[in-house]
Amino acid sequence: MSSIKDLAYCCPYLHFHYTTLHFGRRICSEICYNTLMRMDRLLANSGYGTRSQIRELIRSGRVSLHGVVIVDPSFSVEEAQKPEIQLDGSPVQSSRYLYVCLHKPSGYLTALEDKRLPTIADLLPQELLFKGLTPVGRLDYHTTGLLLLTNNGTLSHRLTSPKWHIEKTYLVTYDGDPLTEDVRRLFASGMTLSENPGEIEKLAPAVLELLSGSTCRITITEGKTHQVKRMLAAVSRSVTALHRESVGGITLLHGPASGEIRSLTQEEILSLFDAAKMTGTPV
Ligand code: URA
Repeated sequence: MSSIKDLAYCCPYLHFHYTTLHFGRRICSEICYNTLMRMDRLLANSGYGTRSQIRELIRSGRVSLHGVVIVDPSFSVEEAQKPEIQLDGSPVQSSRYLYVCLHKPSGYLTALEDKRLPTIADLLPQELLFKGLTPVGRLDYHTTGLLLLTNNGTLSHRLTSPKWHIEKTYLVTYDGDPLTEDVRRLFASGMTLSENPGEIEKLAPAVLELLSGSTCRITITEGKTHQVKRMLAAVSRSVTALHRESVGGITLLHGPASGEIRSLTQEEILSLFDAAKMTGTPV
């Protein structure tokens, strides 16, 4: 054991308290490796109740770690070491990450705070906001439909990066002449946007499905700002309503209703991992 840092790292309890009290935030975050988590947070993240309910559970002696009762909700455990936690004598299935989908209504910013306008944070239960959930990509203020949220940064990054070719499908209502086969071919070939002189933006191939009236379905694999609206503007149509139907195979077919959220099922999470070529288990 060469230093207090090594000593602290080997003992989660000492680690948390020593670094918090004596080194402050910077060094604490430097050596926590993101796997040290407060017991109340871990249980709340794993769906055992709200943070305040969990604190009560812990204080009343119903939670144990490796057979020893823990009564301090701020007690921290090293998640990477797969702690054996029990609640009322039954093993706790701890999960570090959350995967949620929101059916976004029109009239909300895809942001967690804003001084002037309603944000999607207004639609999330308070306890979720403390769990580091962030939206995966962005829908415009008036765009409706599927918005994924997670605190798994790697997955979030892959779902939004064009490199991983994750399909996002939109139902589009537009103004202007009905779209044609020529436009379908143009989108499929990977069109170029040149909205500003001297600036050319090459897009990845997109799938256009012509539907009846002034609607169509567009599937893209990247998420450039206002991409669908800009693609339609480039062929002299303007989007009047935009609804995201799916991301990486996840849809709203099984809910939730507009303005509501639901957790992704284990099957959906695994399929997202698969689509994003993530290895390992999604816990
Ligand atoms: N493309 C857009 O133009 N807006 C959205 O909200 C999503 C995709």
